[in-house]
Amino acid sequence: MRILFIGDIFGSPGRGIVRDHLADIVSGQKIDLVIANAENAAGGFGVTPSIAEELLELGIEVLTTGNHVWDKKEIIDYMRSADGDPKSAARRLLRPANFPAGTPGVGVFEGTTRAGVPYAVLNLQGRVFMAGNDDPFRTADALLKQIRAKVILVDMHAEATSEKMAMGWYLDGRVTAVIGTHTHVPTADARLLHQGTAYLTDVGMTGPYDSVIGVKKEMILERFLNGMPARFEAAKGDVRLCAAVVECDEATGRASSIERLERRQ
Ligand SMILES: [Fe+2]
Repeated sequence: MRILFIGDIFGSPGRGIVRDHLADIVSGQKIDLVIANAENAAGGFGVTPSIAEELLELGIEVLTTGNHVWDKKEIIDYMRSADGDPKSAARRLLRPANFPAGTPGVGVFEGTTRAGVPYAVLNLQGRVFMAGNDDPFRTADALLKQIRAKVILVDMHAEATSEKMAMGWYLDGRVTAVIGTHTHVPTADARLLHQGTAYLTDVGMTGPYDSVIGVKKEMILERFLNGMPARFEAAKGDVRLCAAVVECDEATGRASSIERLERRQ
């Protein structure tokens, strides 16, 4: 079984390159399941219900998010609208599972591929240089006890490479892949850990690289140079799709390979 994990889709440039390349990648790479992080899909900040559904209609089965999930307020009621219904589109949009109890939405999705293979997606968020959420390690322990699927993909949305790598080793042998998101900078460390978990510290942004992590570079430079509040806008140039392809045994969930995949417009 082959899984495509698309890194943080940033604004309309990110959505556009996914729309342009996804069908080719799925057929060329013989992909059975597509997952993407969409927390910056709406203008670089958050995600709206219509954008979530646009991405799902492209063939992405599950959307993960992170610290920007609530930037567009309408997503709160949208997540609540799923109300546990596994058939609703809104149920396929996750927020990190270790957000405090009572937060709208959920952090795990269990489904079956078109070929009938059960899978789960678990969205976690780190705590180093980020908001003080619940412990992502213990949250993963608790949720893995409930998940029935063998094929389990984890989006570890975190700032610190150390925290992401620690999560990789912590879940080694218990999940199919731990793939990092959030920094928007792809790392060159895709590998199989000792017990059969595929690992990548950060899959990288799917969006404009003529930027500082997706935002117009002049605006970010201004912020660093004078410290004044500024409005940030999504950049447009050098658009790339960054993803990882994980191959695994669908019966055991063990990964046999992980490779980075990049497309340019
Ligand atoms: Fe993030």
